Amino acid sequence: MKNNRSPYRFDILKNMQFNQEDIIMLEQIKGLSEFRHLYESGMKEICTKLSILDQEFNVKYDHNPIHHVESRFKDPQSIVNKLNRRGLEVSTQSAMDNLTDIAGVRVICNYLSDIYLVERVLLQQDDIKLVKKMDYIQRPKPNGYRCLHLVVTVPVYLSERKIDVMVEIQIRTIAMDFWASLEHELKYKNNVDDFHLDLQRRLKNVSEKINALDQEMLEIYEDMKTLNGNNEKM
Ligand code: GTP
Ligand code: MG
Repeated sequence: MKNNRSPYRFDILKNMQFNQEDIIMLEQIKGLSEFRHLYESGMKEICTKLSILDQEFNVKYDHNPIHHVESRFKDPQSIVNKLNRRGLEVSTQSAMDNLTDIAGVRVICNYLSDIYLVERVLLQQDDIKLVKKMDYIQRPKPNGYRCLHLVVTVPVYLSERKIDVMVEIQIRTIAMDFWASLEHELKYKNNVDDFHLDLQRRLKNVSEKINALDQEMLEIYEDMKTLNGNNEKM
């Protein structure tokens, strides 16, 4: 029976001549796809855990600790640049061994207390292992950057094996996110590593005001809970 389907795609492949360089490149692309799949799966695992926890708090306490979650796979060019900067071998294995931020999840919380609540309930899960913690809220960076950074591993079950995938989780309030996003944009758009001293001082000043607002919003939220007699320990 005659096959009426277009033979074009097949014919193109059949007539293609691959040289050794092409084959190496195709293998690298395949390797990169597997590498990306692994880290994206790790991010999905973390995002699912966060979504389940957020929904549980909503159902139990009528409160969502999480405003929203963002995730990203580090741009391959940034991976290469970072490895080069550190004088390390440029390969997927080297990236897996040396970089902790290939998979990144950012959790934007409503209140300051929600940050530590999310940290506690996530880290108490026995398949999550804490690799590194940097608390830039207790100790902000000199420029005023505030955020809780966690590097964790989460198991990803593939068809033939289980791999513990490293994910960097940044947890911050809406207000901290506002500051960090605009500070990043200012730095990026102006393509400078160091701001003019006066601009640095003003940005730090805004960060301090934002911290005061976060504290004030938390107090209002706590007082509201007390007024409503909703004092359940979260
Ligand atoms: P890289 O900065 O990615 O090289 O990693 P690191 O090991 O130096 O960790 P660090 O905690 O300094 O930064 C990790 C990530 O946190 C960055 O990629 C940003 O997303 C965020 N971050 C850290 N410092 C700042 C900052 O001063 N401003 C802003 N806007 N974001 C920051
Ligand atoms: Mg850095």
